[in-house]
Amino acid sequence: MFFNKKESSDKKKKVIDLFKNHVSLGKVKFYEKYNMNFVMGFREGPWLFDVDGKKKLFNLHSNGGVFNLGHRNKEIIDILKDQLNFYDIGNHHLISKQRAELAAKIADLMPGDLDYTIFGVSGGEAIDLALKLAKGYTKRRKIISAEGGYHGHTGLSVQTGDAKYRTPFLLDSDDYLQIPFNDLDALKKVLDQDVAAVILETIPATLGMPLPKEGYLKEVKKLCEENGTLLILDEVQAGLARTGKLWAFEHFDVIPDIVVLAKGLSGGIYPISATVIDKKLESVFHDDPFIHISTSGGSELGCAVASKVLEISSDVKFLERVNLLSDQFKYELEKLQQKHDGFFKGVRRKGLFIGLELKDNMAGPVLTKTAFDNDLLIVYANNDTSIVQFLPPLIMEDKDMKFVITKLDKAIKQAKLLHPVLKLKEKLFQF
Ligand SMILES: Cc1ncc(COP(=O)(O)O)c(C=O)c1O
Repeated sequence: MFFNKKESSDKKKKVIDLFKNHVSLGKVKFYEKYNMNFVMGFREGPWLFDVDGKKKLFNLHSNGGVFNLGHRNKEIIDILKDQLNFYDIGNHHLISKQRAELAAKIADLMPGDLDYTIFGVSGGEAIDLALKLAKGYTKRRKIISAEGGYHGHTGLSVQTGDAKYRTPFLLDSDDYLQIPFNDLDALKKVLDQDVAAVILETIPATLGMPLPKEGYLKEVKKLCEENGTLLILDEVQAGLARTGKLWAFEHFDVIPDIVVLAKGLSGGIYPISATVIDKKLESVFHDDPFIHISTSGGSELGCAVASKVLEISSDVKFLERVNLLSDQFKYELEKLQQKHDGFFKGVRRKGLFIGLELKDNMAGPVLTKTAFDNDLLIVYANNDTSIVQFLPPLIMEDKDMKFVITKLDKAIKQAKLLHPVLKLKEKLFQF
């Protein structure tokens, strides 16, 4: 089937030229430099194929969870096709059955009073709304986030991340503070009466999946409550069964005031995001329910897709399967670790949210490249490049395990050889 979809090398070159001249010159130069000029063509399940048909990649990055259910998941496509016979984006001013039912479903699947959902298109948009709401509700200005965390590149979300993403755009603001993840003392020092919210990824992906220390998130919530500050948990990557529970925060005995969902909610098919809020926060909209608008946010087509994603991801058998795969990876990765001791130093793991701990900061980029050469797509963590993010599709089949481990073994062997000689002066990716 794939070969019928194949396009010639000339066509691929044309795409690259168009991209170079009309989308991003810098990105093309970058991929050419590392001989990684892959152009996504046909895709299915865990696989991505180059448009010229000459290479395929097993997706172990899953785009941070977008492709939790694989590429072009049939159940998701069928739902979307069906909806297209009747609906469209919908009208954001009017009452919507699809949005109402999806929000009710989310409320059902969330603990505590996380009863209301406002839909958006992207993760950044949903984070922006979470921050807006925290400020609007508490009437406080400051936001605290984790150093090395990542919540997006939109107007407010960009304020909570690395300075390099806002300083070039003259966007710095004194209202946003950062503290080290897992450091309660640092939090206590900055938590004052001006702080509207603390925002954290439940497990920070861009920081290389450091797991929250025992009791950390629970204590953060307690400190927030004592201070009248809200806790926002970003589950854009960690949510939706990725960690072996539907929501990652369920592992840590904490209920936040706001949960943000995106990426995987789309089923990889129709972009949609969600800012799920404690019902007390809905009061912000009482004076004027139209003070926040997103024309395409919560598109009625996207709602049907997201609803199916939730149905699949919350299924007990599905979660059991994720946990089984996680145990199998534990076993296989530990064997690889022993074999490549010194280069491959350890595994951070919650379900299939996995970080491979490597020798040093150069090892992550080098393994990303050798894995690519061995038909595996993995990406190192941008803010700790000694860690490679390892997010297998949750729908992975048993037969895929041997392929992945054999290829990873080869990639590590090559990375060990390349590592001392390759002087990568810059980071391979900027994800
Ligand atoms: C944890 C986390 N939060 C928020 C975002 C922003 O999502 P989006 O790129 O859809 O705006 C991302 C994107 O990578 C993310 O990983």
